[in-house]
Amino acid sequence: MWRDRRILDLFGIEHPLILAPMAGSGGPALAVEVARAGGLASLPCALLTPGTVAREVETVRHEAAGPVNLNFFCHRLPDPDDPRAGAWARRIGERYGVPPSPPEGPSRLPFDEAACALVEAVRPEVASFHFGLPEPALLERVKVTGARVIASATTVEEAVWLAERGVDAVIAQGAEAGGHRGMFLDEAVASQIGTLSLVPLVADAVPVPVIAAGGIADGRGMAAALMLGASAVQVGTAFLRSPEALTGAVHRKALALAGAGDTAITNVLTGRPARGILTRFVHEMGPMNPEAAPFPLAAAAIAGLRRAHEDRGSADFSPAWAGQSFPLARDEPAGETAARIVAEARALLGV
Ligand SMILES: Cc1cc2nc3c(=O)[nH]c(=O)nc-3n(C[C@H](O)[C@H](O)[C@H](O)COP(=O)(O)O)c2cc1C
Repeated sequence: MWRDRRILDLFGIEHPLILAPMAGSGGPALAVEVARAGGLASLPCALLTPGTVAREVETVRHEAAGPVNLNFFCHRLPDPDDPRAGAWARRIGERYGVPPSPPEGPSRLPFDEAACALVEAVRPEVASFHFGLPEPALLERVKVTGARVIASATTVEEAVWLAERGVDAVIAQGAEAGGHRGMFLDEAVASQIGTLSLVPLVADAVPVPVIAAGGIADGRGMAAALMLGASAVQVGTAFLRSPEALTGAVHRKALALAGAGDTAITNVLTGRPARGILTRFVHEMGPMNPEAAPFPLAAAAIAGLRRAHEDRGSADFSPAWAGQSFPLARDEPAGETAARIVAEARALLGV
């Protein structure tokens, strides 16, 4: 039925719909629902131990047939003694009248030996990477397991760089997307490209299939992305309000209360640019602040404030990641969302 079968055949899925891995908001229940609807089940691993990931993979495989995608971050860890971290923590302490949060270890670890051993043990059908790729020796070990490798690009240059290093498909992440920008060659947030422009540019530039991500939250978006040259879509924000998502209470409240234009790309919550609801802290310290501690240390600097405010039901200091299409997200079971997006796109495309 679908005209372009490249991603369907590569992963072994029925519909060209990939659940976006969403650290903190995605999880096995969401993955199971999307897999049952014929899409690709993705599990975000950046915040989890290998043991937890292994148990989650087991759950998904037990509950649903079909392939599993494990997603990892590939950032370089900053020096824990980086002076920007201490200066940022002191600045926040003074501004908000709280003692600086005690230094914590990084909350998000990059793909490393332990993560690679996990991939070799659980053998996911797909491995996806954000912020570039693992070092060559680790990437080679992932490929030897037979996993299909995909990774995010936010510019044409990043897409070409990934294709030259042997990825099986490129995720073209437009500026509308919720969560962290996958950018890794470029730091220029102001020139990040929207999905409508990025997808055809990347499709023309790389020989591998393209997965469109960013702003796709219903069948109109899916159909448009496929018309633009994408072989599949990766959808995140549209699933944030589903009962199966792990989206926290203050995050859900922020999504429900925000107005249509109330997202921004900010680096003050973690140290790397990410799109989320404009909360109090983002307004007051950002959205982009050149003094923010490097990723992921900026998250530690507000950990205490975040906990205290969340206890009172406030998202003032919490990341409430969301893409620009967040008003299209519904309180609806994820399986229904996935099936609806696919059915609407098929009707529009006449397939
Ligand atoms: C809450 C949230 C968390 C995210 N976490 C991750 C992540 O852990 N890994 C990743 O590769 N992408 C992550 N992303 C980005 C998605 O992969 C994808 O690019 C984005 O959701 C697509 O745009 P959309 O949100 O408009 O659908 C996240 C997005 C959101 C909304």
